[in-house]
Amino acid sequence: MKPHISLTQFIIDQQRSIPNASGDFTMLLSDIASACKRIAHAVSRGAMSGQLGSAESENVQGETQKQLDIITNDIMVDALEWTGHLSGMVSEEIDEPIVIPEHFPKGKYLALFDPLDGSSNIDINLTVGTIFSILKGREGCNASLEDFLQSGSQQVCAGFVLYGPSTLMILTTGHGVNGFTLDPDIGEFVLTHRNMTIPEDSQEFAINMSNQRFWEAPVQRYIDECMQGRQGPRGKDFNMRWVASMVAEAYRILTRGGIFLYPLDQRQPDKGGKLRLMYEANPIGFIIEQAGGLCSTGRQRILDIQPDGIHQRVPVILGSKSEVERVVDYHQQT
Ligand code: AHG
Ligand code: MN
Ligand code: MN
Ligand code: MN
Repeated sequence: MKPHISLTQFIIDQQRSIPNASGDFTMLLSDIASACKRIAHAVSRGAMSGQLGSAESENVQGETQKQLDIITNDIMVDALEWTGHLSGMVSEEIDEPIVIPEHFPKGKYLALFDPLDGSSNIDINLTVGTIFSILKGREGCNASLEDFLQSGSQQVCAGFVLYGPSTLMILTTGHGVNGFTLDPDIGEFVLTHRNMTIPEDSQEFAINMSNQRFWEAPVQRYIDECMQGRQGPRGKDFNMRWVASMVAEAYRILTRGGIFLYPLDQRQPDKGGKLRLMYEANPIGFIIEQAGGLCSTGRQRILDIQPDGIHQRVPVILGSKSEVERVVDYHQQT
């Protein structure tokens, strides 16, 4: 039987090749992993926890928060604020950057997260997740808003955890993508998916078709051609999926290829799209690119965007290289 490699072992091994690595990063990741185990537990208790359903509050994006949006945000903040590895945090659920309390030491990293992705699925017992992105900040002081406004290409690490039939962490530190399954018997994430790569071609797309009338022409054209199947210009039939949890769509694409689109639509030209750049598009985009895929707005590589706000929204088109290239090409032709 092959020996198990735990997440911690894997990260320590990777960090050994970096001269003067302090071990801070390894500890930060292990704190994130602990928080995600707590979230996995909270989510798995379902209705028994009495925590399903909506809260009475709205977040900064104007979404009605689920009780579990708030609870999972608190789990992340509680697990990370005291550790001394961070100089600040950003969460989907909190308007302003989260300040590390005065009595805790400040470290050199910044953590940005979507504590519960796909939270509209929580009440119907479908897959949800946690997305995180790690940037470098300034050590020893509280981060300012400007410290967070770095492009996705500056990310030190990005990951997401899926709470599905199994709990799975997908991770990149810029050296490929690896997947770790939570072994419930020992409570540890164990390396199960080494060097994940996205098939270059595919016949599967994911988009919320109910928004079709609001899309721009290049996206209309791409989807229309897929829908024509083998009789159309693509000469093959396509399959469609829409889970409404970006983490689940990203994982499916990492496993069997495909394309995911949450494009700009006419209702929100100034907002840029639905998904948030800093804790949704950037971390997932980093992972997708590290696995050989592409991530674009249709007009620009997502990881090149210079953010102007922590909750900024962007159109997102990601997945198998040749499919994303095709959509980008259609944007260039208009
Ligand atoms: P969140 O639950 O963190 O607010 O994110 C939901 C996002 C994303 O995961 C998903 O792809 C998309 O919203 C679904 O949007 P629709 O409900 O418009 O389909
Ligand atoms: Mn939300
Ligand atoms: Mn989300
Ligand atoms: Mn969320």
